Amino acid sequence: MPHRKMFTVGPVEVFPEILDIMSTPVVGHRTKECYELYARIKVKLQKILYTENRCFIFASSSSGIMEAAVRNCVKNRCLNLVNGAFSERWHKMTISNGKSADRLDFQWGSPIEASKVDEALSSGKYDAMTFVHNETSTGVMSPIAEITEVMKKYPDVIFLVDTVSSMTATKIEVDKLGIDVCLAGVQKAFALPPGLAVASISDKAIEKAKTVDNRGYYFDFLELLKYYEKDQYPTTPPISIMYALDFQLNRMIIEGLDNRYKRHNDMANMAREWAHKKGFKIFPKEGYESVTLTCINHEGKVDVPSMKEKLAQKGFEISSGYGKTKEVTFRIGHMGDIGVNDLKELLEIMDDLI
Ligand SMILES: Cc1ncc(COP(=O)(O)O)c(C=O)c1O
Repeated sequence: MPHRKMFTVGPVEVFPEILDIMSTPVVGHRTKECYELYARIKVKLQKILYTENRCFIFASSSSGIMEAAVRNCVKNRCLNLVNGAFSERWHKMTISNGKSADRLDFQWGSPIEASKVDEALSSGKYDAMTFVHNETSTGVMSPIAEITEVMKKYPDVIFLVDTVSSMTATKIEVDKLGIDVCLAGVQKAFALPPGLAVASISDKAIEKAKTVDNRGYYFDFLELLKYYEKDQYPTTPPISIMYALDFQLNRMIIEGLDNRYKRHNDMANMAREWAHKKGFKIFPKEGYESVTLTCINHEGKVDVPSMKEKLAQKGFEISSGYGKTKEVTFRIGHMGDIGVNDLKELLEIMDDLI
């Protein structure tokens, strides 16, 4: 299949050196080499998440950890903050796992508002809350620091955070923000092939899990912990992606995390400027635009499937709109290993198509 350069919102462009590393001979998951590999990954994840919490791998995509988080950490009632398709999915998951939950809705395109969160939590009904930092469906990045300030008033509420499309692209200081479970899949800003997800899990979340029944087996935090302490994983993990993750974490550290954040910011500015120049609106409310994707509101004026087809013929791919905004938006992903020159190349081609 001819290669299309991916300016998508996940999975994203994976560089050849990553694919090469994945051809390292596979070792067994109960070998010293595999334990050492996991041990190296853990330490580096702690570094990139600014945390002393344990950092786990999960043999799944991000949704596996979203489900695990509510299964392990909700005992009484969960508050699901909803402002797009993925945060809505977390609410549905919470309910379908037999948990009591309420959704607090915000308009699609708007961020989660701290004052409304405070009002809901002050009811005292909730022992856990789900929050999606970067709503990939709408391109909104909610103000996590403001939400954190509210959470300080409710220390018994477990703070479950989806940073699926923001982790490693912007600074997320897990300990400072008091995040109990901070999760992401590696096919987004980590720029690895899909099939593995990661999460930091606090002692508070582990203690909570001890009080919750029916946590299942596959993603039971306590079972995962038992193996974690031996640098092991309870079942067979995707070892080839673990090689790639170990390698990619080194590359991130060599690039410098601040440089990485700046690169994402620069790309986001470039994409927004291009959209404005073309006369489009940006879908998210001003001031809350994502740094990893730009969700463009074309108001139904662009034939997106036809544009995508033309782009594909030139060797490029972008993402359509998603969920209820599908017909009026398209999304340009700018996350992972690509840089401003790559994005410039794409936008110049798009200039001729629109
Ligand atoms: C914000 C967000 N949360 C959750 C998911 C689900 O991730 P996965 O497909 O890795 O399970 C996605 C996928 O795009 C996402 O963007």
